[in-house]
Amino acid sequence: MVVLQRPVDLDDVQAIEALDSMGMFGTTRDLPEQCSRALDTAADVPLPAGGTFQNIVVTGLGGSAIGGDLLRVYAFTCLDIPVTVNRGYTLPRFAGPRTLVLAVSFSGNTEETLGAYNEARRRGAAIVAVTSGGQLAAQARRDGVPLITVPGGIAPRSAIGYLFLPLLMLLDRLGLVNGIEAEAAEAVRILRELRIRYDLEAPLTENPAKQMAMNLQGRIPVIWGASTTTEAVAQRWKGQINENAKAPAYWNVLPELNHNEIVGFQAPTDNLHRIWLVFLRDPDDHPQVQKRFAVTREIVGKVVAGVSEVEASGKGLLARMFSLIYLGDYVSLYLACRYGINPGPVEVIDRLKSTLAKGE
Ligand code: F6R
Repeated sequence: MVVLQRPVDLDDVQAIEALDSMGMFGTTRDLPEQCSRALDTAADVPLPAGGTFQNIVVTGLGGSAIGGDLLRVYAFTCLDIPVTVNRGYTLPRFAGPRTLVLAVSFSGNTEETLGAYNEARRRGAAIVAVTSGGQLAAQARRDGVPLITVPGGIAPRSAIGYLFLPLLMLLDRLGLVNGIEAEAAEAVRILRELRIRYDLEAPLTENPAKQMAMNLQGRIPVIWGASTTTEAVAQRWKGQINENAKAPAYWNVLPELNHNEIVGFQAPTDNLHRIWLVFLRDPDDHPQVQKRFAVTREIVGKVVAGVSEVEASGKGLLARMFSLIYLGDYVSLYLACRYGINPGPVEVIDRLKSTLAKGE
């Protein structure tokens, strides 16, 4: 069980570092550098044979799947073939010899991903494995499957640079997308700028990530993005709040939520008063979606505890996605501190994995 301590003062750097036994803040601070290093990990990997692919399936779970979601969103505007994210033991029926399967598991030991990898082998798909080691690395080496090895020793969810950018670099090398290096360089530059604003040394009075965590404390965060721009980022915020702050959080996207979820903001009022909405805004959102954000705020703004809107920074989609991810990552860590919770360990996930591995 998570042991709740007293809320930590977000300007008390020493107390935060004492709480954060796995150095999650340090890994988050290092994200710009991680992104730079991540690009190199895919530079020399042999390209999978298979010629022209009809589709791409990224298979993974949790922190190893979210890179696939980011890829799928990126692919919407930049890729001629569909990207599907698969979270489970097997593969969709369409996956076959003309499919490129990217099997991603940071630990290399996630049973669902190993199952999907084996299924991809049986179907004769082209495969690239992405991992820091474990059984996936061993199996890929034995099978002669191209392997992107990323550095280990951090939590999978902190390895988002390593688990997303190599996938894009691989597609760049395959000629399926282009200009990734320049886009990634912009993302790194923006992340370095944002780090100064979000990191521990920036006081609460000037730090939007600390301020957002204070708003979310004691509330139920509901993160709303937009499909084709901030969809995967909204999902990332939710996951990071769950895993780092050990708290519930939910996400959805416009325009879809205007056709169902928004109706659910009428009763019961006690529950609604606990919700804090975060709107993830991107300058490239469809003009009607921009309007929808404004109208939606008018409809639900008064019944919830509060609404925050945050804007993506940067020109390219990569920079814009990473700029919002970075804010969410820091917010989730500060929220953990406000709950007096060590953000690193995810004992529930570990327990589930070992119970299932024992077949109990
Ligand atoms: C833990 C985390 C989890 C894992 C997931 C799959 O930090 O983010 O969501 O990513 O349990 O494990 P891996 O990534 O090792 O395949």
